Formats: sequence, C-alpha cells, structure tokens
Amino acid sequence: MSSLLEILGTRYPIIQGPIGELNDPKMVAAVSEAGGFGMLALGFTQDLDRIKDMIARVKELTDKPFGANLMIAMNPANEAILDLLAEAGVRTVTTSAGSPKKIYPKVKALGMNALHVLLAAPLAPKAAEAGAAGVVVSGAESGGLRTTGPESSNLILVPLVCDMVDIPVVAAGGIADRRGYRAALALGAQGVQIGTRFLAAEESPASKAWKEAIVSCGDGGTTLLPMGGMAMRTIINPKLGELMASGADLSKEYSMMNAGQAWRGGDFDLFPAGGGQVSALIKSIKPVKDIIEELVS
Ligand SMILES: Cc1cc2nc3c(=O)[nH]c(=O)nc-3n(C[C@H](O)[C@H](O)[C@H](O)COP(=O)(O)O)c2cc1C
Repeated sequence: MSSLLEILGTRYPIIQGPIGELNDPKMVAAVSEAGGFGMLALGFTQDLDRIKDMIARVKELTDKPFGANLMIAMNPANEAILDLLAEAGVRTVTTSAGSPKKIYPKVKALGMNALHVLLAAPLAPKAAEAGAAGVVVSGAESGGLRTTGPESSNLILVPLVCDMVDIPVVAAGGIADRRGYRAALALGAQGVQIGTRFLAAEESPASKAWKEAIVSCGDGGTTLLPMGGMAMRTIINPKLGELMASGADLSKEYSMMNAGQAWRGGDFDLFPAGGGQVSALIKSIKPVKDIIEELVS
C-alpha cells in the first residue's frame, strides 16, 4: 500500500478541493508550487479542447504534480478526460458523485491512481474493493454538495473510516488553519482536502464578492439548501435568512442552475454563495503560499 504522499508525489499532504467548474490553471499551479496538490475541477466540463488547454497551461506554470477531480455520474466525457490526463503525465485523480466501479478499470488500465470521495463511512470499504488508492472523507461541515439525510462530522467520520480500511484516508471539511490540519492528522487521516479556505485565496478565480461572503461569514452562518434529492451548503445572506425564518420551502426558491451566474457576479439573492462551515474561521483573503505555510507550521 502506498502512502498518501507517495500517491500525490507532493511535499505536503494537502489537496486543493475542486469547486464545480471554477478553474484557473494559475490557482492549480500556485497550490502545487507551494507544496500541495493542485487540482483541476473537471466534474462537469466536457469540452476536451478546453481541458487540454488548461492542462497544458498548468504544466507551463509548474513542474510539480497536480491532479483533477472527475464526477462519475455527472460527466459522460470522463473516459476521454482520463486519456488526456494520462497523456499529460497526471498520475492521480479524485473521483466523486457515483460508483467508483464504473470508471476504475480505465484508471487502472492507464496506470493511474484514484482517491474516491465519500460522505458516509459504509462507502469506504466499497471504494477500497473497487481499487481506490485512498479515500477522501467529506464530513458534514464541508462545503459543496451534500445529502439530505443524517451525516456525521469529521470528528466521528474520519476515525470511523480509518478503522474500516487499510488505504490512506484524507479528511475534507472544516480545515482552514494549522489547528484543523493537525486535528485531521490526529484523527488518523494522512492528509487533508481543502475547499473553502482556498476558495478565498488571493489567486482563487472566485469573484471578489464570493471571497468577501466567506470572510464575513460568522459562526452558524451556513445552511444546507435542499436541491432535489441533494443539498448544497451555502452561506446565509439576508434574503436566505428571511426565507428560513418565514419557513419557506427553500427547494422552490433557488435553482442550482443559477449558482454559476450568481457566484460569478456576486448576486447572492439569485443563489447564495457556496461555502463550508469553516468560513467562520476565515478572516482574510491571502496568497495560497501563506495559507499552506501556516497550515504546516
Ligand atoms: C462551492 C463548492 C463547490 C464544490 N464543488 C465540488 C465539486 O465539483 N466536486 C467535488 O468533488 N467537491 C466539490 N466541493 C467540495 C470541495 O472540493 C471540498 O471537498 C470541500 O469544500 C471541503 O470542505 P471545506 O470547504 O470545509 O474545506 C465543493 C465545495 C464548495 C464549497
């Protein structure tokens, strides 16, 4: 069994959490240059030429390892994307939102590693059985898409999964500083995946308004917005706060189709800003290098 650092080939076991279709090769390269594992978010992107350009651009900016996230059930182009990544020398991907069984034979055939992202402990042995090199465990406090059912936070989920599998475990959710990083390692994780803290980095392609929404979010400042059968953790802005207080059916008030436009333009009445509970701990927008240096200090 390889360690997480061997799988990633990085100095630090810190993975950039993918954020929807938000991509900037400069951001990916900044994470890798600072010793972490920069990641392209290819969960929904089907434009192979664009993906090829992004991969080439990251490679122009860094010779350090980087990877990509594939969302199994969301993207019919996954197999072709894997070919592009393998051709470019990318060795490790993460997979989320679907059964790893579907795509892992291709990952193996290309000689690549995959870490599978899961939100609940019983999925960990299944991922290991399917050939995952490791699992990314995303606790209830995480930003991004969640389930609508009961979920555990990382204080429970990480040790639970560590006791269930022999492959490396990565903790995702709630980590913004050295305290969270050390806590994740103390719980048995070999590394961390960080979404919201990097979203509010100086180099992040997120809009200024989005970064400011994260920085000004306080304790209890996020909620799970129901989205069909799923839920999205978002920051509570005044409109969302009023709707919650009025007992409105939130699933009828917002469409995830508007999230991209809202997040790009900062119109959070259209769709609230995405962010994890950890937003409450994020007080400033700073460079990726400073974030990583503080995490490992
Ligand atoms: C707005 C937003 C969008 C996200 N989109 C994705 C995605 O497309 N694919 C994925 O695997 N994870 C996604 N995530 C989860 C992150 O990659 C990461 O695991 C998570 O943010 C970790 O929790 P943290 O925000 O507390 O650091 C998203 C998270 C956020 C905040």
